[in-house]
Amino acid sequence: MTKPISIRPQPMVVTHGGSSSDPDTERDGCEAGARAGLRALQGADALAAVVAAVSVLEADGRYNAGRGALLGMDGKTISCDASVMDSRGKLGAVANLLEVMHPVQVARRVADTPHHLIVGEGALQFAKKIGLHHTFEATQKAIDQYKEEVQAIERAPDQSSSDAQDTDSDDGKAAIKRFWNFSGSWQEARDRSGHCTVGAVARDADGHFAAAVSTGGSMPALLGRVADSPLIGCGFYAGRAGAIACTGIGEHILRHNLALRIYLWIEGGMALREAMERGVELLPEGVEIGLIGITRDEAEVVARKPMAHALAGGLAR
Ligand code: GLY
Repeated sequence: MTKPISIRPQPMVVTHGGSSSDPDTERDGCEAGARAGLRALQGADALAAVVAAVSVLEADGRYNAGRGALLGMDGKTISCDASVMDSRGKLGAVANLLEVMHPVQVARRVADTPHHLIVGEGALQFAKKIGLHHTFEATQKAIDQYKEEVQAIERAPDQSSSDAQDTDSDDGKAAIKRFWNFSGSWQEARDRSGHCTVGAVARDADGHFAAAVSTGGSMPALLGRVADSPLIGCGFYAGRAGAIACTGIGEHILRHNLALRIYLWIEGGMALREAMERGVELLPEGVEIGLIGITRDEAEVVARKPMAHALAGGLAR
């Protein structure tokens, strides 16, 4: 009897620059990230590849992650969330991590501890302990976005009519003023004067999968806000069937456990693209959302509006 021919999986990396990144002007950073991930795949596994890819995006400064992270509404806090997961059980995340250029690398090291998620002051002390705490200045883009947002909040009515999820709406902006929880008053912050994530998914030659995401959170947001990016099954998921990473308005993504939901569909046999499109449809019309995904023989990017992304390596589809 002839032995079945086993075709080795094609190593591959997919990156994105966030649901509001510009595919015309910001694609090159995603390509650089994908290439870095692919290089890592020559000597290491899918987990190392996604960390390498996202590290490039964090260092770039144009995306809402690492050096390019949004400013908090006090005009000075930079707080990031990041996570990593692979199909062999590695899982690490950080949330509300202050002033770290490469939150994804801190998340990777959390995966070596007995824990999966470390937040706030503990995450900062952990980053210092492992030598990954590097302070940096906000980019001019982040400062300009902050100033625009402050003006928009100023124009919003003082009272919100509901517990709005969407901080782009007038209700959402009014809620920031109403529930302001930074030290100092809203007026002080105003006088001093997005939501997006970067991500990568990868498949290595041994058929292992990994996902990593990193974000500077959303603007405007209250102090301490955490959304989908560091929460397993919300902004990311990786398992034996593939890996998924999400970008967009985190409050919408997390209430649907979007990454896990899509993963379970593909694990059940649904084509990757169909599962991702179905995932996008779960979110209310008009809500910004982008997804990247990979399986043994598929790689897809699905987004409501064109976003910067790149694929490097084996067969894309
Ligand atoms: N998707 C990133 C965030 O909303 O924080």
